[in-house]
Amino acid sequence: MSKTVLLAGGAGYIGSHTAIELIDKGYKAVIADCHYNSNPIVYERLKEITGTDIPHYNIDVCDENALNRVFEENNIDVVIDFAGYKAVGESVREPMKYYKNNLNSTFSLVNTMERHGVSNIIFSSSATVYGMNNPSPLTEDMNLGPCTNPYGWTKFMNEEILRDLSAANEELSVVLLRYFNPIGAHSSGLIGEDPKDIPNNLMPYIAQVASGKLEILSVFGNDYDTHDGTGVRDYIHVVDLAKAHVLAADYASEHKGVEAFNIGTGVGYSVLDIVKAFERVNNLTIPYKITERRPGDIATCYADSSKAEKILGWKAEKNLEDMCRDTWNWQSKNPEGYK
Ligand code: WQD
Repeated sequence: MSKTVLLAGGAGYIGSHTAIELIDKGYKAVIADCHYNSNPIVYERLKEITGTDIPHYNIDVCDENALNRVFEENNIDVVIDFAGYKAVGESVREPMKYYKNNLNSTFSLVNTMERHGVSNIIFSSSATVYGMNNPSPLTEDMNLGPCTNPYGWTKFMNEEILRDLSAANEELSVVLLRYFNPIGAHSSGLIGEDPKDIPNNLMPYIAQVASGKLEILSVFGNDYDTHDGTGVRDYIHVVDLAKAHVLAADYASEHKGVEAFNIGTGVGYSVLDIVKAFERVNNLTIPYKITERRPGDIATCYADSSKAEKILGWKAEKNLEDMCRDTWNWQSKNPEGYK
């Protein structure tokens, strides 16, 4: 019998790509999402890609009564917790919004899991939990924190909460996936990243400059200690990231306890490397200017993902060219996102 995975916050960028890969590997997917940062049109797109009508619930995951109904109506085996706010700058201006929503949604999920005897959870964590001071390549055994913003602390705190729950309940299986910088889109161009306002992250900003929606890219600092002075990050294709969730779901079903995995390529590219690759692959020009550093940014951040390779059997397969091509394919076919 195929297993059922609940994707909490599953209509968003990473969740929607994960739903496809789960279905491809024989899992059943159920999505719960309030569409704060996603668009219900995604369900039609997912049907076009997978041929499956994915059961979905328009609910706030923080609402335990509503979530309880989802568990009553579906035989959930594994939960993936994608639900949460993710705008770093907003989290600095409105910390309570982030602490309240990002922690409560996880509380609600684990309470409801306990009520229904569900013991497998995969949590969307982030490289941001490594804080400012660890040298790259980052390994899972490094000390965590201090984080540079409330968004990062919510990832840090949820990791800690899930670790404590796992220590108190030996039946529980917790997989913490620490994402590096997800970019790219499904090769169909039907789904992709659709930022709510002006993008904060580099790749969606470049994509909107390319489409003429934004005028010019600001490169935040060129005096970092990197090969060209601009910040270096580990960009990972969202489809590779989605596949890591499928392997994590397989793993969680067979193991108990808590395990963290870095999900990155292990290769660092600078801001200007990304701009140049995007221009070359898509044969267009991205106007940019050098501006001040962005507060809270570090020079270099990339993963050692050998643990994920060894234990999950996961490795990134797509390269920077794929990421640039697929981002532009989505953006050029959907210049206004899902609207
Ligand atoms: C990448 C590089 C910028 C925009 C953040 C969060 C992290 C995670 C992903 C997700 C940096 C530079 C960016 C721009 C630029 N959270 N840049 N001009 O900072 O590595 O990670 O997003 O939900 O928790 O901290 O990603 O894409 O914002 O920046 O020069 O307009 O691009 O300085 O060097 P980051 P990013």
